[in-house]
Amino acid sequence: MANEKEEWKSRIGFILAAVGAAIGLGNIWRFSYLCYKNGGGAFLIPYIIALLTAGIPLLILEYGIGHKFRGSAALSFYKIGKNWEWVGWWPSIFVVIGITFYYTVILAWCLDYIWYSVTLKWGANSADFFYHQHLHLSNSFWHLGSPSTIIFVGLIIIWIFNWLIELRGVQRGIELACKIFIPLLVVLTTILVIRGVTLPGSGKGLIWYLKPNFSHLTNPRVWLDAYGQIFFSLSLAMATMIAYASYLPRKSDIVGNAYVTGFANSTFSLFAGFAVFGTLGFISFQQGLPPSEVVKGGFGLAFIAYPQAISAMPVGARLFGIIFFSALVIAGLSSSISQIEGLVASLIDKFGWKRKKIIHIISLLGILVGLIYTTGSGYHLLDLIDHFISSYLLVLIGFLEAFVVGWIFKAENLRSYVNDISNIRVGKWWNFMIKYFIPFVLGVTFILSLKSDLVHRYGNYPITAIIFIGFGSVILTFLIAFFFYKKKWKTAGNIQN
Ligand code: PHE
Repeated sequence: MANEKEEWKSRIGFILAAVGAAIGLGNIWRFSYLCYKNGGGAFLIPYIIALLTAGIPLLILEYGIGHKFRGSAALSFYKIGKNWEWVGWWPSIFVVIGITFYYTVILAWCLDYIWYSVTLKWGANSADFFYHQHLHLSNSFWHLGSPSTIIFVGLIIIWIFNWLIELRGVQRGIELACKIFIPLLVVLTTILVIRGVTLPGSGKGLIWYLKPNFSHLTNPRVWLDAYGQIFFSLSLAMATMIAYASYLPRKSDIVGNAYVTGFANSTFSLFAGFAVFGTLGFISFQQGLPPSEVVKGGFGLAFIAYPQAISAMPVGARLFGIIFFSALVIAGLSSSISQIEGLVASLIDKFGWKRKKIIHIISLLGILVGLIYTTGSGYHLLDLIDHFISSYLLVLIGFLEAFVVGWIFKAENLRSYVNDISNIRVGKWWNFMIKYFIPFVLGVTFILSLKSDLVHRYGNYPITAIIFIGFGSVILTFLIAFFFYKKKWKTAGNIQN
């Protein structure tokens, strides 16, 4: 029995949901750091080239197949060819197991930090506070220690949000939430930007962020960083965008939607960078430190450098702490629901299960598995899993997608399909990108990552951890995906024609 297909209420609703999926923690703490590290303003060149040559073409691909087959990743790839269905299951599975289950724990930290902001609890040494009081970081990988109550409470709250939003379905859940979250996020970020660029010393920070240094552009690493960031940030190869496009009405401007999502996401990243670097310039001014001491990517930025700046703010320190961490929670929540939706859509399409039942199970698993990440070793564990999933799986699935659509389904067929329904048409260059260019870039990335992991032990973690947790998580997600792929279709209506 085929399920009634859910649909977005409006085009703007879809765009906000897709932008919500794209904008996440990565935009706020990763983009600006990469800019700084890779030649400042000059980095915008590879970044925009990556957006135009891989980001937008793949978005058109994902929106195109999700819309054409009106299906989740699993159903869309099944319809391309029965033997390719697993290419849709793999991202549906790995995103939830390999990303969401730790992504929600980071959101729990952000929630805890909203609470800490009320009293500026991190005190004078924000690094010590983060690693010892907050994470209870253990000094060896295999030494778990006990779970942290405050992180676990945060995790439960985050999952309650995911659960409530997902349970209400596409229109009343995801679309409505993103219609509230995205404007709110823009308002909060604008406040942070204004504050960031008006702090004493902020000008120096902005110079670090954007002063172009073109000599970096000859370094292949810089280009790989640009492609990697575009990939993760636009949530490509994650089943998400395919599922979201399957809820579009028949007449939809696929190409236009892809451009809007791509540019909105990058513009937001660039904008948020002003808040980040204005504030970092301020810390350096306050404490007389060089950039190498204050500019950090990822966790170091959000949980160590930023809190330090908040404490030093002349007025409204607590309020800015609350605003900053709330912005992270909001940006991250619209991403985590999108990650879950990719799997939900595949399961509903294939087995006709009820949305409710799937959401109950995923949420419960999220809390149980997340418990491991709340222990003293959680930080090591999520760092290792994140490294392996984003270095290998994203790249591999992106490669498979481009290959299957480009060569099996034929790029030209999808191009003429999207051109028939879109207001803007996409030229023949798109076929070239999908068939040759994207597989090439991803192939090179894969080989370079593998080479570097075989030469250096990532993060100096024990070799057993690298094999069992790192490579193990990649293989485990494949086995689970294969299991679902092998099961019989219970929804005959979905796979006819
Ligand atoms: N793109 C999101 C970010 O930048 C993360 C994400 C991953 C979202 C997978 C959806 C799917 O943080």
